[in-house]
Amino acid sequence: MKMQVSRLKIGNTPLVELKSFSDKSIKIYAKLEWYNPFGSVKDRPAYWMIEDAEKRGVIDKEKTILIEPTSGNTGIALAGIAKNLGYKVEVVVPEKVSNETKILARLLGAKVLEVEDDLCPKVGKGTDQSIALAQAIVKGHPNKYFMPNQYENEANFLSHYEGTGPEIWEELNGKITHFITGIGTGGTITGVGTFLKERNKNVKVISVEPQKNHHIQGLRNLEESSMPKVLERRKEVIDEWLKVSDKEAFDTVREIYHKEKLLVGPSSGGVLAATLRIKDKVKEGILVVIFADDGRKYRSVYENFKVFDEEFDSLIKNSKYMPPNSLFMQNLSIY
Ligand SMILES: Cc1ncc(COP(=O)(O)O)c(C=O)c1O
Repeated sequence: MKMQVSRLKIGNTPLVELKSFSDKSIKIYAKLEWYNPFGSVKDRPAYWMIEDAEKRGVIDKEKTILIEPTSGNTGIALAGIAKNLGYKVEVVVPEKVSNETKILARLLGAKVLEVEDDLCPKVGKGTDQSIALAQAIVKGHPNKYFMPNQYENEANFLSHYEGTGPEIWEELNGKITHFITGIGTGGTITGVGTFLKERNKNVKVISVEPQKNHHIQGLRNLEESSMPKVLERRKEVIDEWLKVSDKEAFDTVREIYHKEKLLVGPSSGGVLAATLRIKDKVKEGILVVIFADDGRKYRSVYENFKVFDEEFDSLIKNSKYMPPNSLFMQNLSIY
């Protein structure tokens, strides 16, 4: 049976307390974004960007091919949503992106073009191969291709300002003191951060960047790649900019599994590692983190970096909060 994607199916993901990382005076909550239909936080901007382009009348199901440079999750989200709505999709990904990610995007019907690039396509001159290739294709066939461009598109920000931010605020009755998340395009941090600060200007907003030449799919180091416009427009919403290494991120992925039985993606490990530093500094508070995706599509990465001693299938089997309605569990049978 074909699933009909709509705004209603995106978001409203669970917010769970990470009890083993919390204590009496500091609570840490994680928003489990893999509960979105195509398995990551990126379902939100993907849906918002397509809806916005439809409203503006710049795309047409009969004619338009959507093309997007992405570190993977946006490609999967766009492929799933666009196919569901009747569009063709092509994605340009850095070759370092996990094989599982590329396979999923292809299984969802996207054409996947690979380029040598950093793990989040760089915006800086000369290194922005994914973006440059997507742009060149659009330029060559302007009537055929449309590039949503998550790095510049205001609908990316709005998906979090109208969705993720209000969800967190309501779930905690406004009792949040710190919001911590990774930076890719900056859509999540600026969207959620702006919404929360409009409600309570004292909420602290903290960003997490990876080390240079990192292996944390979806995140971006701003020393080696320039700042996306989505982030640039509202970067003043960020109170503190933290960095994490690959090792800290992978060590924390392991720790999260052993303590909470949650199998998370590398960026969630990085974000919680940074959050534990904040926890050491503040006396009390309610800290909210975004867990952007789960660990299933990083099997090859985790095996490569020897993150776990256990057999990967047993990790999946024994983990909590693996939604049976997800892309993986249904083996793509929604199509
Ligand atoms: C796994 C993962 N974590 C975090 C992010 C960062 O999100 P944003 O682009 O909203 O900054 C992304 C973005 O692609 C991602 O794929």
